[in-house]
Amino acid sequence: MKNSILFLLVSILSTIVTAADTSGTSGKIQFSGVGYDFTYKPISKINNNDKNCSCEISDKEEWFTGTNAPFSEYLAVHIRGPIKLSKFAYYTSHHFSIDDNSSTNWNRSALFDNTKDFVVMDNITFLGHQGKDSNCLGKALTYVGEDAITPQKTNTAPSKYMQDLSNVEYIMYSNISCPKSSVNGGCGVYRSGIPAFYGFGGVTKMFLFEFSMPNDLEGSNHTSYYNAPNIWLSSDSQPRVTSESDYQGYCSCVFQGCGEIQVFSANATKMNSSIATLQGLNGTSSDNFYSMFSNMYGHGSFDRPINTTATGGILFDSEGNIVTFISSDITFDEELTASSINAILANIPELGATKQLKAGVKSAPTSTASRNSANLTPSKVNDWMYIFTIATTLLHYIMW
Ligand SMILES: *[C@@H]1O[C@H](CO)[C@@H](O)[C@H](O)[C@H]1NC(C)=O
Ligand SMILES: *[C@@H]1O[C@H](CO)[C@@H](O)[C@H](O)[C@H]1NC(C)=O
Ligand SMILES: *[C@@H]1O[C@H](CO)[C@@H](O)[C@H](O)[C@H]1NC(C)=O
Ligand SMILES: *[C@@H]1O[C@H](CO)[C@@H](O)[C@H](O)[C@H]1NC(C)=O
Ligand SMILES: *[C@@H]1O[C@H](CO)[C@@H](O)[C@H](O)[C@H]1NC(C)=O
Ligand SMILES: *[C@@H]1O[C@H](CO)[C@@H](O)[C@H](O)[C@H]1NC(C)=O
Ligand SMILES: *[C@@H]1O[C@H](CO)[C@@H](O)[C@H](O)[C@H]1NC(C)=O
Ligand SMILES: *[C@@H]1O[C@H](CO)[C@@H](O)[C@H](O)[C@H]1NC(C)=O
Ligand SMILES: *[C@@H]1O[C@H](CO)[C@@H](O)[C@H](O)[C@H]1NC(C)=O
Ligand SMILES: *[C@@H]1O[C@H](CO)[C@@H](O)[C@H](O)[C@H]1NC(C)=O
Repeated sequence: MKNSILFLLVSILSTIVTAADTSGTSGKIQFSGVGYDFTYKPISKINNNDKNCSCEISDKEEWFTGTNAPFSEYLAVHIRGPIKLSKFAYYTSHHFSIDDNSSTNWNRSALFDNTKDFVVMDNITFLGHQGKDSNCLGKALTYVGEDAITPQKTNTAPSKYMQDLSNVEYIMYSNISCPKSSVNGGCGVYRSGIPAFYGFGGVTKMFLFEFSMPNDLEGSNHTSYYNAPNIWLSSDSQPRVTSESDYQGYCSCVFQGCGEIQVFSANATKMNSSIATLQGLNGTSSDNFYSMFSNMYGHGSFDRPINTTATGGILFDSEGNIVTFISSDITFDEELTASSINAILANIPELGATKQLKAGVKSAPTSTASRNSANLTPSKVNDWMYIFTIATTLLHYIMW
């Protein structure tokens, strides 16, 4: 397996092509070939004492496999100011391929709408890292108030008049509660005392946003991430353990290979749409993290919607294609037809060449597993390996 991971790493790095970046107020940025097969060791215990904390990892390997892996897992949606988010929606489809109008339609399964007198919050929980502090894991997740800063006891939407502060981040989850913290539980091992919810699941899924990214005119440029708004997605388990994106002694799952992807990541004027995943795989320092990170940028950038409101999103199709897009034709209807989404995508320019992420190798046990299961339990993997071995042995016996 190590060899195939290495091969994968090398093949990702070697497929980086240089293309002239173009830019626009509308357009799309695409990735193809998404879906990796690899194993990782999940966190089995969090040692969170104030002086020195670390995480222990299970000695049983789990598989990430299939189309869009590791983004086929549950994802949490991060919003970092200055951003005014007026709408957000999450959609799923049984099967959708870009450019194929016979694909299944998209159904809305979560909605946040802050444009009316009464805020709509269907299947959305707003959390932030404003809870109990820890030296090494940072602040724990908690419900946050209208300012997205003050800890709360209940789920509260950010105010539509919220200050456009730099580096204020809230995270959206679904309203489905996690089972209790456990290696084999649906949400893995997480910090005690936090409100824990599933993110947004599915291999084939789409997230839509209506937002603006006004300039922070009041904050101090000493603030970290000053005037650098960002919308990104991460494995839903990452924020439940740590607020740091650093290695943190195995506590950050991105170093084990869980997913993280930038949707609209902005500097003063531009928004990049970039992919950042499999960061280091076996990486043990922030160097691994950032070297992978910077190599996974998509081609092209969008203009930052400073004085305007933009509608855009990210779509993960059933063929391992990811597209981020900005278009004024986007609506947040309960159902969106395959042809309406394809028409939107067809009518906007591609900003730079599609980034090909050909992963290549598919390993034996995973080919027998369900495409839709991002996360196989170790025992299942072992059973399949066993069956696979018997099957290949029989095959050899029959054929030779
Ligand atoms: C911190 O904890 C880890 C693992 O428990 C241990 O290896 C390390 O020596 C500790 N460091 C300090 C400074 O106590
Ligand atoms: C979307 O909704 C339709 C009608 O209610 C249903 O038949 C279909 O299975 C749903 N699709 C998904 C992906 O849930
Ligand atoms: C979750 O959100 C859905 C859609 O708004 C709602 O029907 C359901 O009652 C909510 N469930 C919980 C546990 O709040
Ligand atoms: C809420 O979101 C979760 C996403 O993980 C989804 O599985 C569930 O069906 C959604 N609930 C409703 C009522 O749409
Ligand atoms: C930060 O702001 C101060 C004044 O508020 C200004 O003098 C300085 O040039 C700014 N630094 C940067 C890097 O923009
Ligand atoms: C966008 O990506 C390029 C690399 O392609 C990087 O140099 C630049 O800093 C990024 N800009 C933003 C706004 O993140
Ligand atoms: C912002 O990002 C764009 C795109 O990568 C880049 O061309 C531009 O120089 C960056 N601007 C600043 C002020 O960093
Ligand atoms: C991590 O990968 C490097 C090669 O990139 C290899 O030399 C090293 O042994 C690996 N470490 C572990 C713990 O697998
Ligand atoms: C945004 O609007 C402000 C004042 O309303 C103006 O000063 C600024 O130049 C505008 N910025 C852009 C990028 O259009
Ligand atoms: C899908 O349908 C839309 C809307 O009718 C149309 O604009 C588009 O060309 C169609 N795409 C394909 C590949 O047929």
